[in-house]
Amino acid sequence: MGKIKVEVCAGTFCTMMGSMDIAAAIDSLGDLEESGIRCDLDVIMVPCLENCEAGALSPVVRINGETFFRAETETVMAKLLELAKNCPDSTDNNTQEQAGH
Ligand code: FES
Repeated sequence: MGKIKVEVCAGTFCTMMGSMDIAAAIDSLGDLEESGIRCDLDVIMVPCLENCEAGALSPVVRINGETFFRAETETVMAKLLELAKNCPDSTDNNTQEQAGH
């Protein structure tokens, strides 16, 4: 099954600017499979991504490596649903570099 990796900044500035509201909205999606979408949603809260310019660009959300500045719930949800419909393969190019053999 493919996977969408979502990193929501839980740093101070992003939290003040509503990143937790975005995280809650993502949570409300529930199980994507119930909607007939076979895609694994991996949502993690991360510390300051260090590109918020002291909150000027907060909240920051990263989806499969694509960074959204001044992220809005509607934008994030639309992106997630768009990606979920064409679920990226879990071996996408955003996967951390793995040791070869
Ligand atoms: S506090 Fe979120 S990117 Fe800095």
